Amino acid sequence: MVRKVSIFGSTGSIGCNTVDLILRHPDSYDVVVLTGGRNVTLLAQQAKATGAGLAVTAFEDCYDPLAEALEGSGIEIAAGPDALIEAADRPADWIMSAIVGAAGLAPGLHALRHGTTLALANKESLVTAGPLMLFEAKKHGATIIPVDSEHSAIFQALVGEDINAVERIVITASGGAFRDWSLDRLKTATLEQASNHPNWDMGQRITIDSASLFNKAMELIETKEFFGVHPDQIEAVIHPQSLVHALVGFTDGGLMAHLGPPDMRHAIGYALHWPDRRHVPVDRLDLVQIGQLEFRAADPDRYPALALSRFVMQTGGLSGAAFNGAKEAALNAFIAGNIGFLEMARVVEGVLEQIDAENGHNSAMITLDNVVQMDHLARNSAAEIIRKIAR
Ligand SMILES: NC(=O)c1ccc[n+]([C@@H]2O[C@H](COP(=O)([O-])OP(=O)(O)OC[C@H]3O[C@@H](n4cnc5c(N)ncnc54)[C@H](OP(=O)(O)O)[C@@H]3O)[C@@H](O)[C@H]2O)c1
Repeated sequence: MVRKVSIFGSTGSIGCNTVDLILRHPDSYDVVVLTGGRNVTLLAQQAKATGAGLAVTAFEDCYDPLAEALEGSGIEIAAGPDALIEAADRPADWIMSAIVGAAGLAPGLHALRHGTTLALANKESLVTAGPLMLFEAKKHGATIIPVDSEHSAIFQALVGEDINAVERIVITASGGAFRDWSLDRLKTATLEQASNHPNWDMGQRITIDSASLFNKAMELIETKEFFGVHPDQIEAVIHPQSLVHALVGFTDGGLMAHLGPPDMRHAIGYALHWPDRRHVPVDRLDLVQIGQLEFRAADPDRYPALALSRFVMQTGGLSGAAFNGAKEAALNAFIAGNIGFLEMARVVEGVLEQIDAENGHNSAMITLDNVVQMDHLARNSAAEIIRKIAR
C-alpha cells in the first residue's frame, strides 16, 4: 500500500534523514508536502527527487528563489507561516514534524486535527504545549510517535507494558562537547567548540543545546508530558557513549534498556514503520567491541539547565513556553556572540523568575494563542536581561 507522507523541516538534519529513508523505497510513499526554511536549493532538490506535490518555504522572501529552482517541475510552491499551516491541512497518513524551534508547534497541531500519525521530532511542541498536543491527538483520533531517540527508546520499552507499573524513567545524556571540561573552562567555551558533538551529527542549535544540557532539560519535560509520569520518577544520567538511549524501571525492580547506534534513522525508521518493524540501514552494535558501558551523575553546578527543567516540570502551565522562549532567545544571543556559554542558563533563570513574580505561569490555559503570547513575553524579558549582561 502506498502511504501519503509529508515532511515538515525536510531540509534539516532530521528531515534529510527522513528523506533518505523514504527514497530507499520510493514506490511505497506518495510525498504530499515538503517544507524548509532558507535552504531553498536543497528543498527544490528534495522535492524533485521525491516527486513531492507541494514545496513550502517558511519565509516569504524565499518564494522567488524557490520558484526559480522549481521552474518547469510542475511542483506547487508556497511561502510563509500561513502556507505551512495550509500544508499541514493537506491529508497525509504520516507526517514528520521536524521544524526546529517553537515554529514547529502550529503545523503539528493542525496535522493532529486531521487524525494523522505524527512523528514528533520537534521537541518544542511538547515542552511548550504538551497537554494541548495530547488533547488534540485524543480528540481527533491522531497518533503521536516520538522521534527523539530517548523518547522513542522509552516508547519501545513500554510496548505491552502498563504505565502504572513504571517506577522510574532514566534518560541518558552524552554530555555533549564539554562533558570533560571544568566549570572554569566552560566560561570560555566558544560557538565553534559548542557546535561540535562528539557522537551525533545534528543541527547546530540542538548540538549547542546538547553541550549545555538544555537539550536534556527539554527532554525531561517532554518525558513528563508525553508519558504522564511524575517529575520525581524521571532522571538524567551522563552516558558518554550514546548507545543506551533510555531505560524504564518497573515496580518489580526490572530495568528495560534500549540500545542502538547514535543514528537518528533508527528512531525515524521506527516511527515511519510503526507498529511494524522493518529493516533500517543503521550500523549494528558489536557488544564485544564496545566492551563496557559508562554512566555517571550529571553535575548540577555544570548543568544548571537540569534544575530549571525541574522547576518547569513542577510548575506546569505555561512555564514550558516561557522556558523555551527564553532558551531560544539565549541561544540566539550566544550564537550572535553577545553572551557567554554559561550565561544562557542565567538568562533562562532570570526570565522564569521574572515571569513567575509578575504573572505566574499557571494562570492561563494552554491554548496556541496563550503559548504564543507567553513565548513573546519570555523573549522580551530575555532581551532585557541579555542587554544587561551583553559583552
Ligand atoms: N537532529 C537531531 O538529531 C534531533 C534529534 C532529536 C530531536 N531533534 C529535534 O528535531 C527538530 C529539528 O532538529 P534538526 O536538528 O533537524 O534541526 P535543523 O537541522 O536546524 O533543521 C531545522 C528545519 O527547520 C527549518 N526551519 C528553520 N527555521 C524555521 C522557521 N522559522 N519556520 C519553519 N521552518 C524552519 C529548517 O529550514 P532551513 O534549514 O531550510 O532553513 C530545517 O528544515 C528540533 O526540534 C530538534 O530539537 C533533532
